[in-house]
Amino acid sequence: MTKHIGILTAGGDSPGLNAAIRGAGKAGQINHDMRIIGFKDGFRGLVENRTMSLDGSVLSGILTVGGTILGTSRDKPHKMKVGGKVQDMTDVIVENYEANHLDALICIGGGGTQKNALELKNKGLNIITMPKTIDNDVGMTDVTFGFDTALGIATEAIDRLHSTAHSHHRIIVVEIMGHNSGWLALGSGIAGGADVILIPEIPYSLELAAESIRQRVKNGKKFSIVAVAEGAMEIDEAKRIRKLEKRIRESEEKNSPKDRKKAKSELKRIHSGLGDHTLRLARQLEELTGLEARPTILGHLQRGGTPSAADRVLATRLGTACARYISEGVSGVMVAARGEGAEPVPLEKVAGNKKTVPPDHPWIQSARDVGVSLGD
Ligand code: F6P
Repeated sequence: MTKHIGILTAGGDSPGLNAAIRGAGKAGQINHDMRIIGFKDGFRGLVENRTMSLDGSVLSGILTVGGTILGTSRDKPHKMKVGGKVQDMTDVIVENYEANHLDALICIGGGGTQKNALELKNKGLNIITMPKTIDNDVGMTDVTFGFDTALGIATEAIDRLHSTAHSHHRIIVVEIMGHNSGWLALGSGIAGGADVILIPEIPYSLELAAESIRQRVKNGKKFSIVAVAEGAMEIDEAKRIRKLEKRIRESEEKNSPKDRKKAKSELKRIHSGLGDHTLRLARQLEELTGLEARPTILGHLQRGGTPSAADRVLATRLGTACARYISEGVSGVMVAARGEGAEPVPLEKVAGNKKTVPPDHPWIQSARDVGVSLGD
């Protein structure tokens, strides 16, 4: 019997989304007698029942295209701004799921999407997800698609920055995406031969980072590349943040909303101050080393454009496995990348399970072994 499958992409876009839509859609249509519809702009399109048919030729020619043909948004089903008010829209989603006679809904997204998907699973819907994000920070999967492409883009940027840093005897501080995890900064920093790599998982000492640059000058290298993740923090900042996070947790346990509010607004203030930390870091390193420094923020360049071959293969692999699992009646899982294949992992194990860089990860060891300073 024909199965009706919905599909949406949510959260920040990521190269490989279209390859995943195509993989699930084509495999579903060719092998499993499925009819596929797409919901536009993430969970918002599901609430507003804005759909597009993914039958026939729609899936042709999208494998190599960046972004997502479905559009995306960061809207959350249970906390969505509708008519000027934040509302729980999960019941409307259940209605639309039923109105479209869906047998399953595929949600492609990062960490936030996995949490949202679990909520919908708990509402009784057959949900299956795939992990995408350039940050590579979704737990229980070897890797997420989008990461390899972004790694290539950031590495090429560092390569290009090298020649200008070298010619001008400057420090170039390059900011790489990753608010909570440093996979991209660490990977591209290693691949691009950065001299200092600063990531959120290893709070840094400004003085130690500056000292490593001064040492390079003593050894005749008058330029340096500093690869810094968006969420990298100095040791004191990190301590203040951990303390506030602890206070928020405790105030929740003690049911003390006043203290929670105070701690949250203090945390927000610190985080907003971190926004321009790359510019500040460049200024500080200039002062501490006597070298000229320039900041470069790679920003959304890292998310745009055509996916790498590795991401196309990964997204196709996960997409086709996803269609196969649905045909076998599997749901409530994320289709994780495992070795050369795929594996279904219960959403309960994935939601809220952020994969950060372990301080003893082999990449960290390799970076240290080739003389990179991690500012610690
Ligand atoms: O998709 C994750 C991510 O790329 C983070 O690394 C980055 O901090 C964030 O998205 C920025 O996304 P946006 O500007 O689209 O909200």
